[in-house]
Amino acid sequence: MGQKITVPEIARAKGKKTPIVAITAYDFPFARIVDEAGVDLILVGDSLGMVVQGLETTLPVTMDEVIYHTRMVARGRRHALVVGDLPFLSYQVDPVAAVANAGRLIKEGGAEAVKLEGGLSVADTIRRITSVDIPVMGHIGLTPQSVHRMGGHKVQGRLRGEKPGQRDRVIEDALAVEDAGAFAVVLEGIPAELAAEMTAKVSIPTIGIGAGPHCDGQILVLHDVLGLSDGFVPRFAKCYAELWRASCEAVRAYGQEVRSGAFPTPAHSYRMLEKVEPGPAAVAEG
Ligand code: KIV
Repeated sequence: MGQKITVPEIARAKGKKTPIVAITAYDFPFARIVDEAGVDLILVGDSLGMVVQGLETTLPVTMDEVIYHTRMVARGRRHALVVGDLPFLSYQVDPVAAVANAGRLIKEGGAEAVKLEGGLSVADTIRRITSVDIPVMGHIGLTPQSVHRMGGHKVQGRLRGEKPGQRDRVIEDALAVEDAGAFAVVLEGIPAELAAEMTAKVSIPTIGIGAGPHCDGQILVLHDVLGLSDGFVPRFAKCYAELWRASCEAVRAYGQEVRSGAFPTPAHSYRMLEKVEPGPAAVAEG
């Protein structure tokens, strides 16, 4: 495995031939897996509300919950950059609280950078957070914390059905995030042509999700990549495995063996007076 990835390295990846590979993770074992697989950046997204907690939106997720998950991920990371997501209302109300909450993700969570949603409207907040040397990754376009304003998780900047100027607004947002000092920006749910135009316009790397192939990197939700959901998978996501089905089959097989008596066998059982080899089993024997 290569060297530890740092914020400046991600920032320098703009326009490189090899795109940035980013993915979400929410706990230790999956952080170990994605780190071992060589991703550049792990986001502890507030998508944990929908993916891990079974919520309908990300809105109820709290600071304490993101910190809890970030801590687990930071423990599992050896190589990738860990970015913690600022949840709804942890940065929108008061810029001083925003700095304090960003600081908690670094200090208590072990993140190396934070992400927040919004463009022009949060530019001053990004400035405040970066002024205390906490690196910020922006997130514009389809911003799930604005689900009610958008009337659902809808592609942004598409013109059809949108107010005139919506496309310009997304571009302004990208420029505002860059100007405020973000080291990278997530472009979510944006038509590929517009994302390509934005990628050419800003000097920081763009990391796309549902934003086509012309961004400087890509990010997906881990559970979509692994096929770990039993329900809706967005069109832009690609399943590289079918772990939901594989997991159901494994647990079903376990259940059948318990019911039939095929498990446990003597090989999975301890016996009285058996000589115990030193090691973890010996500890378990007491
Ligand atoms: O919360 C999240 O996982 C995200 C990514 C989808 C970019 O914001």
